[in-house]
Order: sequence, then C-alpha cells, then structure tokens
Amino acid sequence: MITSTFKSLQENPNILPKKLELKNTDEIGQLGTLFNSFIDAIEDISVQKALERKLNERNEELQSALVQLTQTQGQLVQQEKLAGIGQLAAGVAHEINNPLGFISCNMETLSEYIDKYYDIMKIYLALDTTLYETDDNVSKSIIGEAIRKRKEIDFHYIMEDTKDIFKDTNEGIQRISKIVTSMKIFSRVNQSDEHSEYDLNEGIDTTIIVANNEIKYFAEVKYNLGKIPKLYADGGQINQVLLNMLINAVHAVKDNHISELGLITVTTYVEDGYIVCEIEDNGKGIPPEVIDKIFDPFFTTKPIGQGTGLGLGIAYDIIVNKHKGMIDVESAVGIGTKFIIKLPVTGEK
Ligand SMILES: Nc1ncnc2c1ncn2[C@@H]1O[C@H](COP(=O)(O)OP(=O)(O)OP(=O)(O)O)[C@@H](O)[C@H]1O
Ligand SMILES: [Mg+2]
Repeated sequence: MITSTFKSLQENPNILPKKLELKNTDEIGQLGTLFNSFIDAIEDISVQKALERKLNERNEELQSALVQLTQTQGQLVQQEKLAGIGQLAAGVAHEINNPLGFISCNMETLSEYIDKYYDIMKIYLALDTTLYETDDNVSKSIIGEAIRKRKEIDFHYIMEDTKDIFKDTNEGIQRISKIVTSMKIFSRVNQSDEHSEYDLNEGIDTTIIVANNEIKYFAEVKYNLGKIPKLYADGGQINQVLLNMLINAVHAVKDNHISELGLITVTTYVEDGYIVCEIEDNGKGIPPEVIDKIFDPFFTTKPIGQGTGLGLGIAYDIIVNKHKGMIDVESAVGIGTKFIIKLPVTGEK
C-alpha cells in the first residue's frame, strides 16, 4: 500500500496522494501515521499557497483598478475643466466675433480710402511747391502756412507711418480672428462632427506639407510610418491636432538649437487595439512643474501675442472627448518631448 502510494507520487508529483487507511499499530503502521501527517502538512501548505496566490491576484487586480481609477479621475477633471472653459470660450468668441466683423470691414474700406488720400495728396504736395513760386501774395501766404505746417507735423512721416499702422492693425485683426476660430473649434460652436474613413499616415503627410514652411528652417522631419488600418474619424480635426503638435515641436527645437536643425520624428504603429502616433522632438523639453498644466486651455509659456495656449487643449478635446482616444506626454528638459496619441482601431461612429 505505502509502496504503491509512493510510486504514484513519484510518477505524478503534482497530485497529492490519498491518505492511507491504517489498521495496524506496528512499525509499518507508525510509518503510515507519519506519512499521513506528512500529507496533512503538504495539504496545509498547498492550501496556504493557493490562498496566497489568490491574495496576490486580488492585490494585482486592486492595483490596476486603482491605476485606472486615478487615470479616469484625471480625465474627468480635465473634461470638466474643458467643458467649463468651452462654454466660456463660446460666449467670448461670440462676443468678440460681432465687433471683429465690423472692425475688419471698416479697416478694409479705410485702407482703400487711405490709398486714395495718398494719391491725391501727392498731387497737392507737388502743387503747393509750384504755387509758392507765383507772385500772388495771398496764395503765397496760404501755401507758405501749409508748407510750414507740413514740416511741423512731419507730414511725410505721417503718410508713410499710416500705411504701416494699417498693415499692423490688419495683422492684429487676423490674429484675433485666428483666436476666435480656435475658441469656436474648442467650444464646438458651428461644428458638425464629420466622421469618415481617414488614413492617419496620409494625414501626417498632408499636414507636414501644409506646415513645411514653418518647419523647414528649424527642423528636419523623420518619418517612421508603420502599416496601420484606416480610421473612422474626423480627419480635419485630427489634422488640426497633428498641426498643433508639429508647430509646438518646431517652437521647442527653435528654442533649443540655435545653430543646427532640430529633429522631429513621427512614428505610427498599431498596439493593443489602438493606432498609435508618436510625435517626438529634441527641443527644449517641458519642466516637470508645468507638465500637468500643458493641456489646460490658455496655458502657455510663450510670450504674449505668440501663443494662445489653446493648441493642446483643443488636441485633448479632439482626441479624448471626440474620438475616445488618449494622449500621453513624456519629456525631459534640454533633451526633448514625445507626445503619444492613441486612437481606437475601429473608430467611433
Ligand atoms: N513639444 C513641446 N516641447 C516643449 N514644450 C511644449 C511642447 N508642446 C507644448 N509645450 C508647452 O505647452 C504649452 C502649451 O502648449 P499649447 O500648444 O497648448 O499652447 P501654445 O503653443 O503655447 O499656444 P498656441 O498653440 O495656442 O499657439 C506651451 O506653451 C509649451 O510651454
Ligand atoms: Mg501650440
């Protein structure tokens, strides 16, 4: 009996042998009792091991649930912030849009008028010098007064500067229009989501062509585009995200590489049901103390007039809220930054 139990244990060490039925109390019987307590001990250890395993599994589940919960909480906070700012932006955009409309219209008309003034003034300016040469004393004194005044107010400079002022003002208006458009995109005013088949690699190509003039003087672009399926997405919006990130990368390398060209690497691949797009630069990097704020609308480290701080806020809204994707960022100061965009392979209909 003991021999066969040991044999089966030897053949199949993973299966715990049955306990022996003991009838005798002789030496063999005592050996059997020892064997049974040995089995009891092993059973205890196996039960304990199984419990430990279960406990570890539960711990791991709890750990990953905690990580997910923290991520979701972060996303919810971000979404709430975006929603609030979105409403505000919609209101501001609407308010700015009306006066902006008539200011730009008036500026256009004024520019045309000023050209006409300019033409006619040139004729009068030539005329007053000629008239000053005549013998008519009355005309002479009026023209003399005009010439004196013209010199006093430096009329020539005023004429030149008026043109510059108009040019600057027009640029200012263009900039305000751009901000209002961004605010509208952000707040989804006048926006119908147009989802259709979209090839991300193609989107990257066209966006880089559009932005090439901004990129080429400061950075070289390296493509690392993998074989990826088509998405069901709003291509225009995704291109807008790519553009915002590329321009940010250009600004970052501009600030880091004074003499040499920077490097922007764009990579695409598929991973865990997501199409992943990485935009990496070797620019100045993002300091750890501000990295949590970069997706906040209106957060910018750029000088006044150069950044609205809406680029990444819009990107977050488009990728996370409208396309159910994710955006991550990794950065090291002085070394560079990598933005990782993930979009679900099937897309959202
Ligand atoms: N690739 C990057 N490298 C370093 N810093 C970055 C990068 N991308 C974004 N940032 C930081 O995040 C901030 C916010 O970026 P975001 O695109 O939202 O606004 P912005 O570029 O400042 O202005 P806008 O895009 O509206 O013109 C930037 O001001 C910059 O400090
Ligand atoms: Mg930007």
